[in-house]
Amino acid sequence: MGMTGRDDRVPGPVRSTWSQLRGALTLPRLALTSIIVNVLIVVTGGAVRLTDSGLGCPTFPSCGDGSLTPVSKFGAHGVIEFANRQLTFVVVAVVIATLVVAVLDGREVKLALLLAASIPAQALLGGLTVLTHLNPWLVSAHFLLSMAIIALAFVLWWRVRPKADDGEAADSIGFGSSMGISGVALLAVTAAVLAIGTVVTGAGPHAGDADTSGKVHRNGLDVGSMSQLHADVVMLLIGLTIGFALLARSAGASRVLQRAGWQLLAIELAQGLIGFVQYFTHIPAILVGIHMFGACLVWLAALNVWARTRTGLTVIGRSHHRQSLQRA
Ligand code: HEM
Repeated sequence: MGMTGRDDRVPGPVRSTWSQLRGALTLPRLALTSIIVNVLIVVTGGAVRLTDSGLGCPTFPSCGDGSLTPVSKFGAHGVIEFANRQLTFVVVAVVIATLVVAVLDGREVKLALLLAASIPAQALLGGLTVLTHLNPWLVSAHFLLSMAIIALAFVLWWRVRPKADDGEAADSIGFGSSMGISGVALLAVTAAVLAIGTVVTGAGPHAGDADTSGKVHRNGLDVGSMSQLHADVVMLLIGLTIGFALLARSAGASRVLQRAGWQLLAIELAQGLIGFVQYFTHIPAILVGIHMFGACLVWLAALNVWARTRTGLTVIGRSHHRQSLQRA
C-alpha cells in the first residue's frame, strides 16, 4: 500500500500489528473457525442440558455472588454453564470478524452477513427455549438452526477456501446429473435423520427441564417408535451412501470425491453404533453428548459430499458457458 500522509500519522508498531493481524485473519481461516466454534457450542449447549446446568451460573452477565467467573459453590454446573456463555462471546467475535474481513476483501459479503445475522436469531430462539422451560419442539428447532448455521459457515468456507488441485477438474467432466442428484438426496436424508433425532430426544428423558413436580417436559410421542423411525431412516441413509460411493467409483469421479463418500459412510457407521449403544444402555448423558458431536460430523461429511458433487456440476455449467462464448 502506498504511504499517504494519513498512513504516516499511524504509529509504526500499530501499522505492523494491523498488517500481521490482516495476514493471519484470512477469510478461509475465519470461515473454518466459524464452523469449529459452532460445533463446539452445540456440544457445550448439549452438556448444559444433559447435566441440568442451565442455572449453573445463577446471574447474567456475571456468574453470581458478585463474581464474573464461577465460584466453587456453583460446582461443575457453574463451570459448564460458564464455558457455554464464554463460547457464545467467541462465536459472536468470530462471525463479526468474518463479516469485517469479507467486507474488506469484497468477497462473499452477503453470505458472511447472513452468517452474522443467524447468531442473534439463534440467541432469540435460545431465549424463547429457556422462557418456555425447554419446550421440546423449541429445543429441536434450536438444534436444527445450529445445523443450518454450520451449513452456512461450511458453504462460506467452501467458496473461499484455497482451491487445491484435488481432482475437482476431473469431476467436472463426464458426470451425469445422477451424481448431483445423489449428493442432494444424501444431504436431504441426513437432514431428516437429524430432525427425527431431535424428536427422539424430545420424546425421551433428556427432553428438557423438570417442572416443580419433577416431571420433564416431553413432546408426548412414544420414544420407542420414534427411535425405530430414526434408526430406519439411518439405514436408508447408510444404503444411499454405499450406493453413492459405488456410483462415484463407476462414474470415474476423482479420488477425493470417492474418499468423501467412504468417509461419510465411516462416520455414519460410528455414529449409528453410538446410537444403538445409547439406546440399549438407557441413554446415558455422556453418550448423548458424543452422539450430538457425531451428528455435527455426519452433517459436515454430508455437506462435503454434496458440495463436491455440486462443484462438478457448476464447473460443467460454467465450462459449457465458456465454450459457447468462445464459439460465438
Ligand atoms: C447417521 C447416524 C445418526 C445420526 C446423524 C443421528 C443424529 C441424532 C440427533 C441429531 C439426535 C438429537 C440430539 C439432541 O437433540 O440432543 C439424535 C438422538 C438420538 N439418537 Fe441418533 N443419530 C444417528 C443414528 C442413531 C441410531 C442408529 C440410533 C439407534 C437407535 C440412534 C438413537 C438415538 C437416540 C436414542 C436419541 C435420543 C437421545 C436423547 O434422548 O437425548 N441414533 N440422533
